[in-house]
Amino acid sequence: MAESPHTESTLSPSDANWWRQAAVYQIYPRSFADSNGDGLGDLPGVTSRVPYLKALGIDAVWLSPFYPSALADGGYDVDDYRNVDPRLGTLDDFDEMAAALHAAGIRLIVDIVPNHSSNRHVWFQEALAAPKGSPARERYIFRDGRGPNGELPPTDWVGAFGGPGWTQVSDGQWYLHFFTPEQPDFNWDNPEVREDFLTTLRFWADRGVDGFRVDVANLLVKDLPADLPSQAELDAMDRTSGTHPLMDRDEVHEIYAQWRKVFNEYIPPRFAVAEAWVETPERRARYASPEGLGQAFSFDLLEADFDATQFHRIINDNLEQVRLTGSTSTWVFSNHDVTRHATRYGLPPLNGRNVKQGVEWVKAGGPAEDIDLERGLRRAKAATLLMLALPGAAYLYQGEELGLHEVADIPAEQRQDPCFFRGADYNGLGRDGCRVPLPWQADGTSFGFGANGAHLPQPEWFAPYAVSVEEKDPASTLSFYRRALALRHELQGPETLEWDDVDENVLHFVRPGNWHVVTNFGTAPVALPDGEVLLASAEVENGMLSGEATAWIRR
Ligand code: NOJ
Repeated sequence: MAESPHTESTLSPSDANWWRQAAVYQIYPRSFADSNGDGLGDLPGVTSRVPYLKALGIDAVWLSPFYPSALADGGYDVDDYRNVDPRLGTLDDFDEMAAALHAAGIRLIVDIVPNHSSNRHVWFQEALAAPKGSPARERYIFRDGRGPNGELPPTDWVGAFGGPGWTQVSDGQWYLHFFTPEQPDFNWDNPEVREDFLTTLRFWADRGVDGFRVDVANLLVKDLPADLPSQAELDAMDRTSGTHPLMDRDEVHEIYAQWRKVFNEYIPPRFAVAEAWVETPERRARYASPEGLGQAFSFDLLEADFDATQFHRIINDNLEQVRLTGSTSTWVFSNHDVTRHATRYGLPPLNGRNVKQGVEWVKAGGPAEDIDLERGLRRAKAATLLMLALPGAAYLYQGEELGLHEVADIPAEQRQDPCFFRGADYNGLGRDGCRVPLPWQADGTSFGFGANGAHLPQPEWFAPYAVSVEEKDPASTLSFYRRALALRHELQGPETLEWDDVDENVLHFVRPGNWHVVTNFGTAPVALPDGEVLLASAEVENGMLSGEATAWIRR
């Protein structure tokens, strides 16, 4: 495999700021690389692909959950926070993977899922075996039901993936679950829960992980008085004041202040990024404070249309916001929860959010006549090249560097995502289409993912997107990502940006070092400023940048 020009290790122990402008690559481990032929990707599979990650030129890997799990929600239902799913490997395999990544100069961020455990977690099993009102039940949220015999759930709340938000246990009590019944919510008012998560954070930090991605960081603390509001009442409540009973309550930051103390026990301090789908940038900033988690995902660009005005506003707002906290912005177009951006950008606008377009398309079962896959990828590359030039951290999702599209036509009987089975409108037919195992080779069993097939079906059209094909082709999406990431390392300097030119079709900004970035959102070619074209996402001819493309220029 080709060596990246970015070869020196960035792992200096004194570098407490490595995350500020990092390019972070998300690995969904069950779909990355399968080393033992059981159809599921695993940790030795990740280790075997470290040369690929190094050649890609990323700074860090974010590993989605790899813990023991019945996979009721793709691993976000954790049985044991301090272990590895035996199908994915062992703790020794984890250590080997971490060491291999570190030796390649790549940091490691792991996913922490603190809002809920799985129903197979030893604490939940204890809670089920223990009587009402017992300390074991106090680690979760149990309530008596309504109706003469408590046969109705305590409220009519609907879970995020559809279906009731409460499930009844054998003695008649009900427990709360924001997601599936297999994901009971913890009671974060219980000091034992708080203490246990500190132990988990230390467990992984001691094993050398560099940081944590915190799942639904905004949900942990709840205010649940005896008289609970109905779903309609909840829906009508303000989500921006920090007083909503279920989400983004101000008190959640007391937890993260405690976590920060743990992170700061290490050299360099452990990093954390919050996944917090909150209502306003101001609310998001609280999660990114240096006394808290330190960084928070912004999904603003991910939700935007491919549109200069929207991008301009979002970039300005986000840069302004991080000035308030001293954190850096995060930029992301794709992850394991949304339709891939190459696909979203190929769809006709839906008079609204770009993510919604993808949802509707997946729901319709995919390849409709109205999708332009080539255009989607062209725009995705333009958007990505713009993103990689922004000050702050860029989050990439496995497979986007190959230009993969969403797999929409997965047969119902092969789908896994609870969103599909619970009828949620969360992402159309669910999120399996962006979680299909990667194609490493153009032929052979499971396109080189493993020796014996893949846990989600890979379509025939994956072949030309295979790593083995793309790494030989200088015009491939993979070669483009490698060049962009290598150049980004050379060019990334102080975290500032100045606008040079902004109109309804073109955004042109400048980073320190005379790094000019021009994105043409329109379809007609535009003239580029003078200078050396370092990289472009599409043709530049006679100083003209083609439509729906980005160029990096040094002047
Ligand atoms: C957010 C994660 O990204 C998603 O995949 C998961 O289903 C929910 N949190 C519940 O943990």
